[in-house]
Amino acid sequence: MSAITVLGIETSCDETAAAVVIRDADGKGHIAGEVVLSQLDDHSAYGGVVPEIAARAHVEALDTLIEEALMRAGKHLRDMDAIAATSGPGLIGGLIVGLMTAKALALASGKPLYAINHLEGHALTARLTHGLPFPFLMLLVSGGHTQLVLVRGVGDYERWGTTIDDALGEAFDKTAKLLGLPYPGGPAVEAAARTGRTDRFVLPRPLVGEARLDFSFSGLKTAVRQAATSIAPVNDQDVADICASFQNAVSRTLTDRIGRGLARFKTQYPDTKAPALVVAGGVAANQVLRQTLQTLCDTDGFTFIAPPLALCTDNAAMIGWAGAERVAAGFAPDSLSVSPRSRWPLDASAQTLLGSGKRGAKA
Ligand code: KG4
Ligand code: ZN
Repeated sequence: MSAITVLGIETSCDETAAAVVIRDADGKGHIAGEVVLSQLDDHSAYGGVVPEIAARAHVEALDTLIEEALMRAGKHLRDMDAIAATSGPGLIGGLIVGLMTAKALALASGKPLYAINHLEGHALTARLTHGLPFPFLMLLVSGGHTQLVLVRGVGDYERWGTTIDDALGEAFDKTAKLLGLPYPGGPAVEAAARTGRTDRFVLPRPLVGEARLDFSFSGLKTAVRQAATSIAPVNDQDVADICASFQNAVSRTLTDRIGRGLARFKTQYPDTKAPALVVAGGVAANQVLRQTLQTLCDTDGFTFIAPPLALCTDNAAMIGWAGAERVAAGFAPDSLSVSPRSRWPLDASAQTLLGSGKRGAKA
């Protein structure tokens, strides 16, 4: 099979992004041109993503960004083999903008359209960056999702664990908010935790010890609130200690949950020569979390793969790449009548768990 060149479009949350990705005949991938416009400044005053503001910002920026990505790649629309756009899960307004733009381009150029599940984009990124063979495990930790997924092949996923309440990024954001730290909370909590004591507050580690591989973080957030209230008014050192204790509880929880996942993988795939755990999502920026996962993988004989942060957070290269993988694997293009879906589980057989992905906004 010859090289496949795909235009990718991502508009599911608060990043507007376009990219041109090439999958070589031998399966190697590279990004020919990409551009990501973060809307962080548009939303930060509200302490979260405002769907209407996001949709309008996508409309204003997307056409220019697509031109920019093509220009950076030195390509034209006619050079594309396919057009791939995120069509779920995410904020419906943004999804409509991206998918309708992709449909218009596909119709005008006669190129095939691929409607991509945003989670598939995250799941396949390590094949773009590291050429990782199937099967492998992927931990997605973002503002809207916390999932442990078995990636068996293109379009072949099994969700092993998900959050039954808050996503991990959401827990960081809420913890930050109630301690008076700025949005987004993750980086602020991590920074504050650097000068804090991890053992000053004993916070809960929900679901630790249970055989199921799900996650729960809302109890942790409540415990943080109680800890803060019990010593109010809090000074900077108190905030640092609470943040450090919070991160410590998260670390312990992940070690237990993911450790069980790695063991299950080994049981199911005893012959995999180099088993791997890939991390994705904005929380993957957290150094304590990375170190926790690295140590866990070292102990259990897994390779720990953390793609560059710009490819862990939302981007269009992963969507273009997922499109290229679909073309290469022989999947038929989607019809121009395909609809965006605000909810779209990667694993169709997985049950919806109470509260999981309830914001449905971020992936
Ligand atoms: O993947 P992402 O950029 O956006 C979506 O959720 O789509 O993830 C954003 C989340 C936010 O909740 C943010 O607080 C969290 O990632 N985050 C972090 C760190 N940097 C970003 N959480 C913990 N530590 C960090 N350093
Ligand atoms: Zn995402």
